[in-house]
Amino acid sequence: MAILLPGGAGYIGSHTAVELLKAGKEIVIVDDFSNSSPKVLDAIRKITGKDFKFYELDYKNKEKLEKIFEENEIDSVINFAGFKAVGESVKKPLEYYENNVSGALVLLDTMRKYGCKKFIFSSSATVYGTPEVIPITEESKTGGTTNPYGTTKLFIEKILEDLYASDNTWDICILRYFNPVGAHESGLIGEEPQGIPNNLMPYIVRVANGTFKELSVFGNDYDTPDGTGVRDYIHVVDLSKGHVKALEKLDKEGNGLYIYNLGTGIGYSVLDMVNAFKKSTGKEVAYKITERRPGDIATCYADPTKAKVELGWVAEKNLEDMCKDSWNYIEMSQKK
Ligand code: WQD
Repeated sequence: MAILLPGGAGYIGSHTAVELLKAGKEIVIVDDFSNSSPKVLDAIRKITGKDFKFYELDYKNKEKLEKIFEENEIDSVINFAGFKAVGESVKKPLEYYENNVSGALVLLDTMRKYGCKKFIFSSSATVYGTPEVIPITEESKTGGTTNPYGTTKLFIEKILEDLYASDNTWDICILRYFNPVGAHESGLIGEEPQGIPNNLMPYIVRVANGTFKELSVFGNDYDTPDGTGVRDYIHVVDLSKGHVKALEKLDKEGNGLYIYNLGTGIGYSVLDMVNAFKKSTGKEVAYKITERRPGDIATCYADPTKAKVELGWVAEKNLEDMCKDSWNYIEMSQKK
C-alpha cells in the first residue's frame, strides 16, 4: 500500500516525503519538475536511507496518472502539485486555475476510478481572506481571497466538500498552512523560489548572503505592535509531520472530511523576523520601509488547538530553528 505524492519533489512535498519514509510508509512521487529539481529525489534518499518509486509527469495527464494507479497499490494521495506564487497567479490566472483546480479534478476522478478515497489537500490560511477574528480557528469565515492562487485553494476546498457530501466513504483532510519557512536540518532540501522571491524568509536569506542589497519592509503603519505585518511562521518540518498525523487519523478513523489549521499560534512581525534572523545566524539584514504591498493584511495567525486535540500535533520548532535552517540551506546550496 503506497501513498502517492504529486509534487513530491517540491518544497513541502519533499519534506513530507522524508517524514513519511521515516515513519515507515511506502511512497510514490510524481513530479514534472516545473518548480523543482531531480536532485531533490537523491537528497530525499540520502536523508532517509530509503528508496521509493518516481514518475516524471504532469499530474494532469490522466492517461499516465491512471497507469500509476494500475502499476501500484495506491491507498492514499497527498497533493503537493499546486502552483503557489501569489503574484504570478494574478498574471497567469488561467494557468493557475488549470493546474490547481483542473489538476485536482483529474486526480480525484482518477482516485475514484481506482477506488482510492483517502485524500489530503494542501490548503492555505489565505482561504480566510481578511480574518474577522484573530487567532483564526477552522470555524472562521472563509472567502474574500484577493488573488487567483488563493481562490484556487478555496475552490478546491468547496469541490472536496461537495465530493464528500455526494459520497461519505471518502476520507478527506484539508490542511490550512500558515507561513511555511525553514528547511530540513541537513541542508539537503529546502525552498528554491524561481526568480525574485515574493515571500519574506527567502528574501531575508538572500539579503544576508548578498544576493540583494536590502529587504523592503512593506509598510510600518499597520495596527500591530511595531507597525509591520504579523504572520504565523511555521517550520516546514513541523508542517510535514502534520501530514503524517493527518494520514494516521484518516487510516484510523476515516470516513470524514476534516479541516485543520497548521500553524504555531504565535504571530511575529516582519521586524521580529529580521531581528531573530540576526540573533540566530549573526547575519545583518539591511532593510528599508516602503509602501504597503497591495492585498496584504495586518495580522494573521492560527489557533492550532484543533490539530493538537484531534491529531496530537503541535509545532515543536521555534523561530531560531526556522532562521538557522533557512540560512543553513542557502549556505549548503552555495557550496554545491
Ligand atoms: C509575510 C510578511 C509582508 C516580503 C503568502 C501567501 C500565502 C502563503 C504564504 C503559499 C507580510 C512582509 C514580505 C518582503 C515584506 N502562500 N514582507 N517584504 O503574504 O503572509 O502569505 O505566502 O505558498 O498564501 O499569501 O507571506 O512571506 O509574502 O509575507 O515586508 O519582501 O512579510 O508584507 O507582512 P504572506 P509573505
